[in-house]
Amino acid sequence: MKAAMIHQYGQKNVELVETAIPTIQKNDVLVKIEAASINPINLKTKSGAMKLLLKYQMPLTLGSDFSGIVTEVGQNVTDYKIGDRVYGRVQKERIGTFAEYIAVAKTDIALMPKNLSFEEAAAIPLVGLTSYQALYDIMGLTDKDKVLIQAGSGGVGTIAIQLAKVSGAYVATTTSEKNAAWVKELGADQVIDYHKENFDEVISDYDYVFDTMGGEILEKSFKIIKPNGKIVTLSGIPDKKFAQEYGLSFWKQMLLAAASWKFSHLAKKAQAGYHFLFMRPDGKQLAELTKLIEAGKIRPIIDRVIPLADIQEAFDYSESGRAKGKIIIKMAD
Ligand SMILES: NC(=O)c1ccc[n+]([C@@H]2O[C@H](COP(=O)([O-])OP(=O)(O)OC[C@H]3O[C@@H](n4cnc5c(N)ncnc54)[C@H](OP(=O)(O)O)[C@@H]3O)[C@@H](O)[C@H]2O)c1
Repeated sequence: MKAAMIHQYGQKNVELVETAIPTIQKNDVLVKIEAASINPINLKTKSGAMKLLLKYQMPLTLGSDFSGIVTEVGQNVTDYKIGDRVYGRVQKERIGTFAEYIAVAKTDIALMPKNLSFEEAAAIPLVGLTSYQALYDIMGLTDKDKVLIQAGSGGVGTIAIQLAKVSGAYVATTTSEKNAAWVKELGADQVIDYHKENFDEVISDYDYVFDTMGGEILEKSFKIIKPNGKIVTLSGIPDKKFAQEYGLSFWKQMLLAAASWKFSHLAKKAQAGYHFLFMRPDGKQLAELTKLIEAGKIRPIIDRVIPLADIQEAFDYSESGRAKGKIIIKMAD
């Protein structure tokens, strides 16, 4: 099969190579991948920026989520059969969806929404689960809450806005003026053009912030959070609690405790919570997303579809930071 690989961290371009179709274990299914999505973690994995949390052996096929057709089932698999249309986010140790086949655990997949094409379905798993885990599991968002979602026009933001609206919360988001109208259509109640306004001067007293940006933007979030509110970050620095739960070594726990000290301190001052989220695969939550999509409550937003043969173009576009929703890789030309 064809697969998009790297042979070392920091390699400039991904390479398309011929490799063996993976073999499945008892609890796995083999999926013929139809489409996959680009996520910034693919770029960070390629560059080696994730090495503290994820260290891989080379060569490495990149890619975290997919949609496709089941072609083989393991001996313990009864809930899926050959021919099922499924989608999923694979475990971090088993990445490799920029390829024609993937072996994936039955617990990490769900049946695809019936009203979506393969390209549309591939836009959901990683960003859908990330948003679900931030907004529902950690925040427990309700219709009484106000949430700020940073970068509402990005892969995560476009789903997060819609999921937040399912709970009835009031949603503010940041993006550029060019995206304001369509991001409002997704459900945002207030759109802040980050080129013209500082969000921390425009809004205040928020229950929650969903931070996709990290750095200075994350730092400013502590100015708008209510006491007892929560800031959930995807791109900030993991704190000691996360490091312990993730099972990192003692010295890495200490390293992250020191590196995240500023944010823990700001949280204490604001009497708010600071949570670093590293999303996890979850077939059951994905099945909940399938229901929401089939009910017409959320939909994928796709910027462009690029064939596997041109995958480097997709990496370069993602790196530009300007994607409007998701960049999809289509396996067959
Ligand atoms: N920890 C985890 O488990 C996890 C999971 C998912 C994602 N992430 C991380 O979350 C981040 C976002 O992911 P993504 O897939 O949404 O990225 P993305 O799709 O590449 O984001 C692109 C969008 O960001 C907007 N943007 C850029 N700078 C902005 C700013 N200063 N303020 C507001 N909007 C801005 C851009 O809009 P303009 O063109 O208007 O600038 C563009 O629409 C990435 O760093 C990713 O690695 C982490």
